[in-house]
Amino acid sequence: MILVIGATGKIGGEVARLLVAAGSPVRALVRDPSKATALAARGVGLATGDLTDTASLDAAMRGAERVFLVSGQDLRQAELQGNAVDAAVRAEVGHIVKVSGIAPSVSPGGPAEIGRQHWRTEHRIEESGVPFTFLRPGFFMQNLLETAAPMVSRLGLLAAPMARAPIAMVDARDIAAVATEVLTSENHYERVYDVTGPRAFPYAELAAILTRATGQRVRYVHTPPALAATVLRRQGRPDWQIEHLVEMAELFRAGAGATVSGTVRELTGLAPRSIEGFAAEYAGAFDQGGGARLLRPAARIGLTVAGRAAGVSRSGRRHRAG
Ligand SMILES: NC(=O)c1ccc[n+]([C@@H]2O[C@H](COP(=O)([O-])OP(=O)(O)OC[C@H]3O[C@@H](n4cnc5c(N)ncnc54)[C@H](OP(=O)(O)O)[C@@H]3O)[C@@H](O)[C@H]2O)c1
Repeated sequence: MILVIGATGKIGGEVARLLVAAGSPVRALVRDPSKATALAARGVGLATGDLTDTASLDAAMRGAERVFLVSGQDLRQAELQGNAVDAAVRAEVGHIVKVSGIAPSVSPGGPAEIGRQHWRTEHRIEESGVPFTFLRPGFFMQNLLETAAPMVSRLGLLAAPMARAPIAMVDARDIAAVATEVLTSENHYERVYDVTGPRAFPYAELAAILTRATGQRVRYVHTPPALAATVLRRQGRPDWQIEHLVEMAELFRAGAGATVSGTVRELTGLAPRSIEGFAAEYAGAFDQGGGARLLRPAARIGLTVAGRAAGVSRSGRRHRAG
């Protein structure tokens, strides 16, 4: 049996689904079982628990041969995931597969706190003696649904502090496909895999891709980090998260997202999903309504404000590997 932690999230949910489809017995540790009824209907066993609750982790780990470990961004991540590692040791689990941070951020002295937390968790797993595999993904395409889609659909504006940085965005479903292969094979112990999309592209190109996918004009505007932080603060984001997003953007501007890995194709035999395919699939989330082909007046104002503040002017489908 494979225990999936984080099964109500973007990667964990897909991992649980793919494992069941592959015929593996799966148990999911969930904080709120009502969020996992679809998984339960597919045959995933549910163990109610929390990474803060050691007894619930011990109960969930009972009989688990392997553990898939992912949890959301959290300043206590090393402590929370460390609890799962300790429980895995007690339960004599045979393999931990952890979703870590983007490779350049995972370092004890790295520039972003979440990356430092990932490094501490990786280190703790290595020291535990449990065989492990670490997946270090790039920027998730799914982030765009949360961070970019609201402003694109309202204003036709893609605003981000990414300058011209190329980023090899990856579809979270491909990270899950890699994890599923790793969890069902004996071939990936003590391995660390970078998991990216098929190519790196700057935000200006992303705007053009969204324009084609929606049939409506989308413009990219580089926002200076201080302005991006102000916008995030107005959205009610906590300070640590704003700091994290600003630190990560700085890392991306320095080129941290530019490297493309072949992991998805090599491990799954499938081509990684493309940003063009993602944009076509989720075009509705970026749709400006009413088929606006030109920027609306509000967008022009937003563009002018953001552009002035920045001191910058504007600037697929899945295939089987052959
Ligand atoms: N986003 C990116 O571009 C990116 C890139 C590289 C690496 N990463 C890493 O990927 C990981 C996933 O991030 P995400 O935000 O995308 O995850 P997510 O989809 O929000 O999923 C987080 C999952 O963890 C569960 N969880 C959180 N706290 C828990 C706790 N105390 N006990 C049990 N379960 C708990 C959540 O359960 P609930 O449903 O109950 O909340 C949810 O199932 C993070 O470690 C992040 O650093 C992200």
